[in-house]
Amino acid sequence: MNNDNAAALEFLHTHLRRPVVLVGMMGVGKTHVGRKLAEKLNMPFKDSDKIIEQRAGRAVTDIFEQFGEEKFRQAERNAVLEILAGDPCVLATGGGAVLNAETRKAIKSKSVSVWLNSSVADILKRIGIADDRPLLKKGDPETILKALLKERAPLYAEADIHVESRGAHSDETISNLINLLYEHLKEATV
Ligand code: S3P
Repeated sequence: MNNDNAAALEFLHTHLRRPVVLVGMMGVGKTHVGRKLAEKLNMPFKDSDKIIEQRAGRAVTDIFEQFGEEKFRQAERNAVLEILAGDPCVLATGGGAVLNAETRKAIKSKSVSVWLNSSVADILKRIGIADDRPLLKKGDPETILKALLKERAPLYAEADIHVESRGAHSDETISNLINLLYEHLKEATV
């Protein structure tokens, strides 16, 4: 554990009583960062994509292909609302979760939200040749990612906390995030 975070973590263990929701583009590392953050906070980790896949018995790509994006967004809204009605946890959402107004409203009112941000170049590096992002199959991934980020950035920016994803240096990202969570909650509890 990073010793710099010891005081912040001690505070968060006592005062953080809401779910922490990670939003941001596909490929920024929400699952990886979320899992590690959950460990540090002693909270369960949840991933809305995984929950949707388990319920549908299909991969996200298949849900998009067979039922379309709109149905996927409804399943995503249901999953997020349910999780946010339960016990505190760290939740990694899919990159497009913020597009649904109800999902956005629930995130805003029931959680501490975090925009994990990254450049399109870094996202492309991280995604590599993986074939599991249905929206990127429609054309040139770089062009699509730039357009999606432009459209979604104002929605991600509604998050309480903004943190840069440091890719390979995820320990640094998590350490920064813990400090930002601490600052945010400290202000809220004064
Ligand atoms: C999507 C992102 C994906 C997944 C689906 C749609 C999006 O999740 O929900 O492919 O619209 O950006 P990740 O952000 O976990 O890749």
